[in-house]
Formats: sequence, structure tokens, C-alpha cells
Amino acid sequence: MSDETATASAGDTLTVRDNRTGTEYDVPILDGTVRAADLGKIRVAEDEPGLAVYDPGFVNTASCRSAVTFIDGDEGVLEYRGYPIEQLAENSDYLEVAYLLIHGHLPSRDEYEAWVHEITYHTFVHENVKTFMQGFRYDAHPMGMLLASVGGLSTFYPEGRNISDPDNRHMQMVRLIAKMPTLGAFAFRHAQGKPYVYPDNELSYTANFLAMLFKMSERKFVADERLIKALEVLFILHADHEQNCSTNAVRSVGSSQVDPYSAVAAGIGALFGPLHGGANEAVLRMLRRIGTIDKIPEFIEGVKAGNEKLMGFGHRVYKNYDPRAKIIKKACDDVFEVTGVNPLLTIALELEKIALEDEYFVSRKLYPNVDFYSGLIYEALSFPPEMFTVLFAIPRTSGWLAQWSELVDDPEQKIARPKQIYTGDRTLEFEAREKRWT
Ligand code: ACO
Repeated sequence: MSDETATASAGDTLTVRDNRTGTEYDVPILDGTVRAADLGKIRVAEDEPGLAVYDPGFVNTASCRSAVTFIDGDEGVLEYRGYPIEQLAENSDYLEVAYLLIHGHLPSRDEYEAWVHEITYHTFVHENVKTFMQGFRYDAHPMGMLLASVGGLSTFYPEGRNISDPDNRHMQMVRLIAKMPTLGAFAFRHAQGKPYVYPDNELSYTANFLAMLFKMSERKFVADERLIKALEVLFILHADHEQNCSTNAVRSVGSSQVDPYSAVAAGIGALFGPLHGGANEAVLRMLRRIGTIDKIPEFIEGVKAGNEKLMGFGHRVYKNYDPRAKIIKKACDDVFEVTGVNPLLTIALELEKIALEDEYFVSRKLYPNVDFYSGLIYEALSFPPEMFTVLFAIPRTSGWLAQWSELVDDPEQKIARPKQIYTGDRTLEFEAREKRWT
């Protein structure tokens, strides 16, 4: 683009000169973006396809307008509906945050009480759900069980397909948020060969979850208040993170106007992958391998030489301390007060200290992310690594549903249907088998 062109096109537009044809186009810039459809108007000839954008992994493509979650990665800021994550983690509870994400505002007392009541009284699942979960192999991965069971719920609530009715949509969202801990706990007990525990509706959301996980023959199971609070905080931190892989999966599948159970099952599938939900397990393995503090310098040298990564460090979006990691680090103290200190914590703290002073990590803006400390807490709470992603999926359900509901209401949204750059053969002549195989 020449200087003259730049001056002539001053304002919120982008002037593009197509050197194939010499034609110039003024493309409007709105909210720091250009519309891919506007670029599609750039073409060599009327009957040729328009210019498209190639962006594997959506590295620089906005797929929606959203008012749910805001992240400023450079500053280490995370806000749900405008409220800083630190304030929510300090002062709120998970169900209030779920309400905020879905409804867009904090609930009044009446709204809060009605919401908690609704969620609490939908925690039970149909007995047939329990039966089909019992049908999984003894060693079934709990995340696979969760994925299949949530998908299966769509057959129990076929009215969920009527997504254009707001009341109906609300009902399915309540059901999903309410039943996720029940399904997650059943999956956990299944692997241990223990009887499934029914919900206790006298308990709070997280206290009930802990009871369904760990209750044995006692009449009533009430976990230590500090553990309940720590789990609330972890659930709040994991409730949403704008357009990540699993949220994009929920939106993409939801854009076909399928029921929310099927859309959320797609999100669980995405979260199952090691690049998304599995890094905290890798952190534990790494800390265990390092073993003692005196081995840290040697380990760091290996990382700097490019032999491996310091797991739990770095983030695609955060180029500063992940705000969730700060809060989790504090929650560690509360949990370890009850469970005893996880011996790996000493190594983690020393590793962080050394890395944050090292030029390699400082210059690349590599800071601890949410996964650096979360695995330590989950392990202290007696969760096996296979449960870590389940513990992520349960609270993320409210974020997925908030994003899904926003999508359903968004008149600009269409069925997700990306373009491709075709690289295969064209118009080959089919040869009959007799000829090909001789
Ligand atoms: N340890 C050592 N070096 C690292 C690390 C790390 N954890 N992360 C990035 N780097 C280096 C890269 O090698 C690269 O160095 P170079 O410029 O010399 O080539 C530079 O920092 C930039 O890294 P990118 O790979 O470009 O960063 P990207 O944004 O693509 O990756 C990611 C982000 C995948 C999270 C990466 O930092 C990583 O693999 N971290 C470890 C895994 C992890 O903790 N994942 C959890 C993320 S949080 C979540 O998903 C919930």
C-alpha cells in the first residue's frame, strides 16, 4: 500500500490493493477486526472465488462477539462479565458465578436463592443413567464416561432440542450444571469399584460433590470447610476462559442448533485432549522426576537447551503471571493445612523462584499458568490424575452454557462451516478394478 493510499484511506478502514488486478478496496475496521466476508469481495474475476483467510487453529481470527469473559494476556487480567477473577474467587461461590456467567449480572437475593434451589433439586439422575454408567468397563477413563453420559442425557431430555424457547433452554442449563458433579462422582467411584453415592441436597454444590466422591458407610459426610472453600475457588477459576478449544467446540457443534447436551459433550471431548486439559498431570510427573531441590539447576539447564519444556509455565494468551495461578497458589496453603503438605510443593516453589529470575524465562515472558499448582491440590485431595480433567469439566459447564446461550441468541451467528485450501487431485478418471488390479 503506497503512502498516498494510506492518507486517502485514513479512518477506520483498511485499504487493500490487489496486485493481481490493480484494484483497491476499502475494508471497514470494526472493533479491531476486518470482516472475512469483506475480504471475500476481493477477487480476480467475477466467476473466481473471493480472497479467503488461512488461519489453522484460529490464531488470529475472532469467531464471535461475546460479552461473557474478558482476558488481557499482557496485563494478566481475567474478568467474568466485567468482574475481576480475584474478587469473585475471594467473595463469591461457584453457583453465584455460574449465575453471573449465564445471566450476565449478579443475582439479587431472591434470584440467588431460586437458582441454588433449582440446581440443588436437579442433582439426581435417572436410574437408567446410573445403569448405563455401570455398564462401562471396570477401568474406563472417568472423562470418557463423563463425555458419553452427558451425550446420553440428550436421550432423556428430548425437549432440549427446542432451543428457541428461553424457558426450555434455562431448564436444560439447570439440569446440566446440577448433574455434572453427580456424573463426575459416579465415574470416579466406578473406577474404584465403589457403590455410587446419591446426591445429598442438604449440602452445598461443592460439599455435595465431595460427599458423592468420598462417602462410605457414615450416615452423613461433610468435608472439612477449608476443602469445600478451596474447591469453590478452583471451580470459580475454571468456570470460563473465553474462546478456547473446548468452548469453540461447544459453539461450533451448537451452531447446528443441536441440543445443549450434545454440544457440551463436544466440549468435554475437546477438554479431554492433553493439549487442553491435561497439563497439570504433566506438571506432577515433571516434579516427581526432578525429585529433589538440588536437581533443579540441572533440570533448568535442560529446559534452556531445548531438551524439554518447563510444564505449567507459559501460555498462548498470558504473557504475564496467569491471574488464576496466583489464586491457586494461595489455595494450596489452605488445602495443605488439612491434608498435610504435598512434598512436591517445595520443589514447585523453588522451581518457580529460579525460573522467574532466569533470563531465558523472563525474556520469553514465561510465567506459571493455572496448571502449575492445580495438580498439587488435586493430588492432595486424593484425586488420581485421570480425574483432573473431570474436575475441570464440571465447573467449565457453566461457561460453555453461557457461551452456547449467547450463540443461540446472536442473530449474526451461522452454522460453523470453515473454508479449506484444497490440496488434493482433481478430476481423475476412474479405472475399473479389473483394470487397476491387473
Ligand atoms: N518451557 C520452556 N520454554 C518454553 C515454554 C516452557 N513451558 N513455553 C514456551 N517456551 C519457549 C518456546 O520454546 C519458545 O522459545 P523460542 O522463542 O526460543 O523458540 C518461546 O518460549 C515461545 O513459546 P511458544 O511455543 O511460541 O508459545 P505458545 O504460545 O505457542 O505456547 C504453551 C504456549 C503451549 C502453553 C507453551 O508455553 C507450553 O507448552 N507450556 C507448557 C505446557 C503447559 O503448561 N500447558 C498449559 C497451558 S494452560 C492451559 O491450557 C489451561
